[in-house]
Amino acid sequence: MTVHHKMDRQSDDVLSDMAQGVIGTGAPRVDGPAKVTGQAKYAAEIGDGTEAVGVFVRATIAKGSVKSVDKAAALAMSGVVSVITDERLLRNPAQGTANEAPIQGASAVSYFGQPIALVVAESFEQARHAAQHITVEYDADDAVTDPTDENAQFDVPDEKQTEQGDVSTAMAQAAFSVDVNYTTPSQNSAAMEPHASIAQWEGDELTLHGSYQMLKYNRNELADALGIAAKHVRIVAPYVGGGFGSKLGIAPEAVAAAIAAKELGRPVRVVMTRPQVFETTMRRSSTQQRLRLAADSDGNLTAIGHDATVSNLPGEEFSEPVALATHFLYAGKNRSYAHRIARIHRTCAGSMRAPGEAVGMLALENAMDELAHKAGIDPVALRVQNIPEKHPESDKEFSSRRFAECLTQGAEKFGWSARSAVPGQVRDGEWLIGMGVSSAARGNILSEAKARVILHADASVTIETDMTDIGTGSYTIFGQIAAEMLGLPLSSVTVKLGDTDYPEAAGSGGSWGASSVGSAVFLACQSLRGDIAKLVGTDAADITLKDGVVTAGNVQRPLSETLSVDLIAVGHIEPGDMSGAVEHAGFGAHFAEVGVNAVTGETRVRRMLGVFSAGRILNEQTARSQCYGGMIFGIGAALTEEMVHDHRDGHIVNHNLAEYHIPVNLDVPQLEVEFLEERDSWANPIQAKGVGELGISGAGAAITNAIFNATGVRVRDYPATLDKIL
Ligand code: MOS
Repeated sequence: MTVHHKMDRQSDDVLSDMAQGVIGTGAPRVDGPAKVTGQAKYAAEIGDGTEAVGVFVRATIAKGSVKSVDKAAALAMSGVVSVITDERLLRNPAQGTANEAPIQGASAVSYFGQPIALVVAESFEQARHAAQHITVEYDADDAVTDPTDENAQFDVPDEKQTEQGDVSTAMAQAAFSVDVNYTTPSQNSAAMEPHASIAQWEGDELTLHGSYQMLKYNRNELADALGIAAKHVRIVAPYVGGGFGSKLGIAPEAVAAAIAAKELGRPVRVVMTRPQVFETTMRRSSTQQRLRLAADSDGNLTAIGHDATVSNLPGEEFSEPVALATHFLYAGKNRSYAHRIARIHRTCAGSMRAPGEAVGMLALENAMDELAHKAGIDPVALRVQNIPEKHPESDKEFSSRRFAECLTQGAEKFGWSARSAVPGQVRDGEWLIGMGVSSAARGNILSEAKARVILHADASVTIETDMTDIGTGSYTIFGQIAAEMLGLPLSSVTVKLGDTDYPEAAGSGGSWGASSVGSAVFLACQSLRGDIAKLVGTDAADITLKDGVVTAGNVQRPLSETLSVDLIAVGHIEPGDMSGAVEHAGFGAHFAEVGVNAVTGETRVRRMLGVFSAGRILNEQTARSQCYGGMIFGIGAALTEEMVHDHRDGHIVNHNLAEYHIPVNLDVPQLEVEFLEERDSWANPIQAKGVGELGISGAGAAITNAIFNATGVRVRDYPATLDKIL
């Protein structure tokens, strides 16, 4: 049976009554051993090695059309099976949360690196070699590839320009104000596993082993791209080696593998190279941001203005929602937002971890630091005193928000009182030492999800859902929820994920995965508890399930002796109308201590602490690891990560992990993460909120603020490389 729950009211805290104590416990990831011993098979590793292998030929112009593709030389080469120039290859499959990609004309090129042809051969080496012998002729058009180009065209969508009160007047009357510009570069999600697909057809039925985050959407996208019905497509992705947004939508290799496999009547594998991942999947948009903050003589904000320019391809639906957190984080009755989209010919710009908050807070939280410095107010105190009572625009209450405590308890734990308010005062040999703080915030989302829970007659449990585990802990957390609810050890629960044959889940995106799909598992288990109660002649409220034993009044019976057949329930959670009720978000605070070398200008993060409140923590260990990952992204954003585009054609100059610098072990000190106990009854039945993206939001700004405190140098152009500090 299916239990459907529309989230349109507060949830009861039933989980606190559960006897097991499995929820919240820091259980290590159950998929860990398979991964570290190489037994977990990723998309590219499925198959028996007899698959044909495809390698892309990609556009070397930013804009124009393909006049001709000369395949002759490649086709004559050893091992080459086919050169596919199906027009469907030229379409940009969807990327980003909107899952709406522009469909170009059959031969149109709109960015450097766009797929034009797929060379298929018996081996990767043969295909790669042959791909270099394809000659493409273009009709190239002039293309604007830079948002700062004087010929750049902008979209200024009405609904994204908002005004409340009068920011200009408030700025003019302010006792203290800042009006500053910040820039952030294009970034890459840089998931460890590249995008990879193996496609195989049986008649009209396609099975694609891929590396994707949101299978129910990905299945529709792939079906759309191929022009077939979704019911003919099965996507399988039991293991995903990171995504960080880059695998929210399917990438061109999935479409190409499917087309080639159909044409050739055999399985085809296409694995993107690292440069292709950079150039042919998606990037996070670069941003230009202007922050205006006005405060009275006590430091109370009277106005906030946040104007952003981002860049996307013409026709792209998604654009980086830069000011997301600025809308609700701080008080101030005058507020103004502008959002401009430069329509340029660069690789598609989609959602990368915490789209909006991650880059918006780099600027907002620097501006708050600048204001604190000008006003002579401690940056922690300035933030705390400007926490609004209600949402400053919607005037709604927050569902739960231990924001102030994250800041104050974090300051205490970090030893913030030792910070010198005057920059450039603390030295350790040739290192200038400084401390910085930033707020963290990320909106919380519930997303529709289903999960099937099978309680077998031997009291073992199987969970099935097309949810993915992209390294986040899904396998473990859903097992914990079922174990908690059914009074069984975690080891008796088998979690099966990543297959569109299972019930449709929310997918891994927007930090909603654990709480949304976890709620579906929870609902199914609630139903099963009712079934178990009936078997012992009572109601669910009157049974205790613990250590594999059902207790009802005086009766105590092992669950395995209570069951005679498998019991099956499907949980289905759906967001309901709570529009009138509350705002929800996760909150936190980041603290960083850096050393900046007085001779070289290089920055080393010495310590970092993140304190977060995100509802019920479902697994202490996986939640903590998510926050570590987010904070490490923050170190990258602050200090090293920057995609460099060639201004002539928009191509990405540093399209590999040797030159696009993500933090490595030596760049990351031991990070500390604390969670404040919280339940959010408005969020979902299990009262948890997302943490995956909370940890990145604001993290980089704590570091650049610490650089200012260490040196007196304010870097407003991310990343804060040494040349900008010296
Ligand atoms: Mo996230 S950017 O929704 O993977």
